[in-house]
Amino acid sequence: MYRQGQWQSGERASKWCRGARRVVTAVVVVMLWASAGAVRVKAQQKKTVMPWMDQSLSPDQRADLVLAQMTEAEKLQLVHGTGWGVLRPDTPVPAGDNGGAGFVPGIPRLGIPDVNLADSAVGVRMAALHGRYSTLLPSTLGAASSWDADAAYLYGAVIGRELRAQGYNMSIGGGVDLMREPRNGRNFEYAGEDPLLAGTMTGNLIGGLQAQRVMGDIKHYALNDQETGRNVLNVVLDKKSMRESDLLAFQIAIAIAHPAAVMCSYNKINGDFACENDYALNRVLKKDFGFRGWVLSDWEGTHSTVKAALSGLDQEQPGSKYFGEALREAIAAGQVPAARLNDMAHRILRSMFAVGVIDDPPVAAVMDPFQGRIDAQHIEEESIVLLRNAGGLLPLRPGIKSIALIGSHADVGVLSGGGSAQVDPPGGNVADPKRGNGEWGKPVYFPSSPLQEIRKKAPEASVTYADGGKVEEAVATAKGADVAIVFVNQYMSEGRDAATLSLPDHQDVLVSAVVAANPNTIVVLETGGPVSMPWHNTVEGILAAWYPGIGGAQAIANILFGDINPSGKLAATFPARDADLPHPGVTGFDPAKATPGTPDGASDITTPFDVDYTEGVRFGYKWFDSEHKEPLYPFGFGLSYTTFAYSNLQVDSGRCAVSFIVTNTGDRAGTEIAEVYVELPESAGENFKRLAGWQRVELGGGQSRNLTVMLDPLTMSIFDTAKDSFILPKGSYRVLAGPSSRETPLVGTLDE
Ligand code: GLC
Repeated sequence: MYRQGQWQSGERASKWCRGARRVVTAVVVVMLWASAGAVRVKAQQKKTVMPWMDQSLSPDQRADLVLAQMTEAEKLQLVHGTGWGVLRPDTPVPAGDNGGAGFVPGIPRLGIPDVNLADSAVGVRMAALHGRYSTLLPSTLGAASSWDADAAYLYGAVIGRELRAQGYNMSIGGGVDLMREPRNGRNFEYAGEDPLLAGTMTGNLIGGLQAQRVMGDIKHYALNDQETGRNVLNVVLDKKSMRESDLLAFQIAIAIAHPAAVMCSYNKINGDFACENDYALNRVLKKDFGFRGWVLSDWEGTHSTVKAALSGLDQEQPGSKYFGEALREAIAAGQVPAARLNDMAHRILRSMFAVGVIDDPPVAAVMDPFQGRIDAQHIEEESIVLLRNAGGLLPLRPGIKSIALIGSHADVGVLSGGGSAQVDPPGGNVADPKRGNGEWGKPVYFPSSPLQEIRKKAPEASVTYADGGKVEEAVATAKGADVAIVFVNQYMSEGRDAATLSLPDHQDVLVSAVVAANPNTIVVLETGGPVSMPWHNTVEGILAAWYPGIGGAQAIANILFGDINPSGKLAATFPARDADLPHPGVTGFDPAKATPGTPDGASDITTPFDVDYTEGVRFGYKWFDSEHKEPLYPFGFGLSYTTFAYSNLQVDSGRCAVSFIVTNTGDRAGTEIAEVYVELPESAGENFKRLAGWQRVELGGGQSRNLTVMLDPLTMSIFDTAKDSFILPKGSYRVLAGPSSRETPLVGTLDE
């Protein structure tokens, strides 16, 4: 299992933290290599005729051996897809295409298998088309709120297991674009606002996936932080800020997972499209990060042949407009060196060997839906964040007599996210009378019923449901009940952003009316990301359940009734209002393109525009800190049904570590996520803190534990553009430890 801190960047280790315990990347590679394909017998038999099948050789040696046997045509075949396939109606689906997002034919004479790529951000997509089942996991933003690297690893393992069973050998999930824009339609498939947390969680997720011998990718590299105008927008951001935020998240994730691939994004970065951006691809990703896999484009994110090839793109997806015949001609004309084509093919082949898809190709099987359901529920139980429990109404008592359940199809299901991350619901969309399958941009609910699960928890209680469509009906249902539980939703999807942080469909009115009728009101959020809550201090309880996954209702019921003590903490700031954000609105946003079912703002906005991130690294909690603004709920915040105290901070500068005692001061067991932040020395000129480490600790009532948290030197460094590398600023660092970014009772200094 991977854990936070088990990674080493391509950067020089800082002189300060040289003594810090570091698990070198080599250990991670050995773990990956050893775990990939336990049984490799079949490959041994091939190695006599195909020396590259000799598993005692390194992936790079094996790639070189097979590359030497390949024709130019065979190399070219590897560096592009075969078209939109099942993703677009009336497009040919070649033999061998497993019906996912992309297909790259292999080279049978050399024992190189096809590559079948599947979208799998929160579960394997396209299942309905093939009559398959896929587990819907909670949103990755939710999983990031568990701060549990093991949960992230399990998350990836579930997806990897199911990809293999369905015949795929590559995932194109792994989104880690930081939440600069809380209204971004794809935040649900990313991992929040902080580079260390997002990078660690995504790296472990892809590590867990690749341990199943399925190639993973990490996307969308980089700064694809909004959907509005994504194909034409140009991100303007200085290099220092980029390296210390968005690119740092990728750096951490890549250092942990060693992904087969990185997917470059649609947008431009400082004037060049990401998929033909020499700085981002060659200088940073391949040189500084030491990335040895291949860069594939987002679908139709390639914009040239020569410029893209020379800038570091290795594979065009889904088709071959630029990297098919056009690339052959460019090589023949001497515009692209043949060595570049060899490098492209080498990167693909070495990744196939490294992950194990050649030695141990997937064998179609009936995947295990029951284990997936158990795993999804477990992850969601760690992901739910208790935001408010004012009068101790939660956990609900089993003897409760009457419960009013309201809204968001909570009688039958839980909400899922849309776009290429859409997983297909078993039995169809429970919110659709026709029970049809998922449709792009249309809310899909999965068969996991909060009403059923709540009834199981309180068999003696009268549990009634109102859909919330009519406020007066909801009020009537709520009135007089022991407790009213309102499920509110915010449907988000690839392709479009939200106009504001406000809940859609007048749900704020619904909540306010219900709480006026029954002060014992609890709100459960099924949202794609942060939302504003004007009623937050009038209700008794608030749970952030994200998109809860196929085990969501059981997880929510377990938390509501205290069978599970909530432990999640926010991976992103919840602002009180749009006006408090660095950008009060989504740049370039067109309200006409935000409505599900209409043409979306991703593809339908074709006039280029700049998105100027003048805030630099100061987004999320760093913005609220430096602007002295009060968030509604801060990054790292989450309550428990017990309480914890912090004491006895010790700082070990030489080892870049801090230790302190956490005590469970309540009488029931609980898990605390203890967070450590640093404030850089004055010379850095920053007026905000940075997350530098954390640890999850399970404690029985009254128990204490002395924790040691290794601080991550990269998160304490600044990127010196003159030196083109990270450096640790001189002077004293303030070290802060506590339960959230806004509650750090322990303060110390770390000196050189
Ligand atoms: C998309 C998405 C990307 C996805 C790909 C294939 O447009 O941006 O995340 O993997 O196409 O569906």
